[in-house]
Amino acid sequence: MATVKRIGVVGGGQMGSGIAQVATMHGVDVWLHDLDPQALSKASSSISSSIHRFVSKSHITQAKGAEALKRLRFTSNLEDFRLADFIIEAIVESEDVKKDLFVKLDKIAKSSAILASNTSSISITRLASSTSRPRQVIGMHFMNPPPVMKLIEIVRGADTSEETFAATKALAERMGKVVITSQDYSGFIVNRILMPMINEAFFALYTGVATKEDIDTGMKLGTNHPMGPLELADFIGLDVCLSIMRVLQAGLGDNKYAPCPLLVKYVDAGRLGRKRGVGVYEYHKESRSAKS
Ligand code: NAI
Repeated sequence: MATVKRIGVVGGGQMGSGIAQVATMHGVDVWLHDLDPQALSKASSSISSSIHRFVSKSHITQAKGAEALKRLRFTSNLEDFRLADFIIEAIVESEDVKKDLFVKLDKIAKSSAILASNTSSISITRLASSTSRPRQVIGMHFMNPPPVMKLIEIVRGADTSEETFAATKALAERMGKVVITSQDYSGFIVNRILMPMINEAFFALYTGVATKEDIDTGMKLGTNHPMGPLELADFIGLDVCLSIMRVLQAGLGDNKYAPCPLLVKYVDAGRLGRKRGVGVYEYHKESRSAKS
């Protein structure tokens, strides 16, 4: 496949906006689409303030920052993706919603375009099977936040071609990332290991083993993790963590992946983490409050 010149990113939430930012900062033209106009305007301001931070810390020059912002376009019309060489989906973690989108993208995108999903856990093979181009469907799993985290987990669906894999790896490396490759099993590599740990931290809180602060401090200082598991869950989004646990439970067929009732309860209550200002912890602007 020729070098990717223009990508489309679907979903302007925390991951989609970060992916769009990384791509434009590495010289790729980007269209960012979201159904929700508010999400698009939030994405626009968070990307430009993040790029300005890169400039003020001298990680990139002012000219490079300005060029990056110029390469980025926002659209509420998915049809604009007809000219994209490569499309990355980063919408809600629901198989049905993602499949609907892949059906639409398959119709809109040019025949050579690759369709990638940033899913944390959903089967790439099943997403691919909703399209007429399963050889050109792949998992491209960025870590949060995409502008900072070095890793991309590439997931091969059952029919993903070598050409699609090579083009995706080349794009990831062009974005300055390190690539690992996973076969298509629920949770892939990182979330298969990370999410049961986060779920176990919820069980420790639920059964009164310790306070949330002690659970997080224990894992930070005891195992040298930069964030405790409950803090990390708030950062990822409790809804995303719950969806992933459900995918692990269904896909790997083992009750050890059953989501903790406390995690379910928080999601039911709309305590989705940092993005809602409340999750396990309460947040006032950027700081974490000690309140429960
Ligand atoms: P988010 O909730 O911040 O953003 C999702 C966005 O998708 C929202 O702005 C929503 O309006 C939009 N959306 C929903 N349905 C849509 C549709 N049909 N068409 C266009 N836009 C639509 O979610 P987040 O955290 O960005 O997650 C997105 C994906 O990335 C999920 O698949 C998640 O599993 C994955 N992911 C999340 C990570 C995290 O730490 N939050 C890390 C790595 C992957």
